[in-house]
Amino acid sequence: MALYQWDDTLSVGNQNIDDDHKQLIDLAASLNEAMRAGKGKDVVGQILDDLIKSTESHFEREEGFMREINYVDFQSHKAEHERLVKEVKDLQARFEAGSITITVSVGNFLADWLRNHIQGLDKKLAKAIVAAHS
Ligand SMILES: [Fe+2]
Ligand SMILES: [Fe+2]
Repeated sequence: MALYQWDDTLSVGNQNIDDDHKQLIDLAASLNEAMRAGKGKDVVGQILDDLIKSTESHFEREEGFMREINYVDFQSHKAEHERLVKEVKDLQARFEAGSITITVSVGNFLADWLRNHIQGLDKKLAKAIVAAHS
């Protein structure tokens, strides 16, 4: 499904950031696949955990770049990262407590969020990184 596939429209032109994004999209795809295949709570929980950890370390990397260049939109960009992490962690907590099941719509939400965020704020950031180093 195209939603879960890397394509050139997602390239921000920064190798480190692009590589992270590819990995995150792959993880969202794995989550989606695991749910569709009816995998158990252990498998789904593990992928969700990997996804949260990779997302957090990716956000840290971007925020490090932002600090390096004294990025003007640092606060608003970081706030979007924090909102997403909170949302996914809430979801994970409810999943672990057994009060919800992770459905296909969760995977779709994540992939969709990533694509929108990458095409908007991350592209803007990558441009600012290039400008700061030229
Ligand atoms: Fe970002
Ligand atoms: Fe990003």
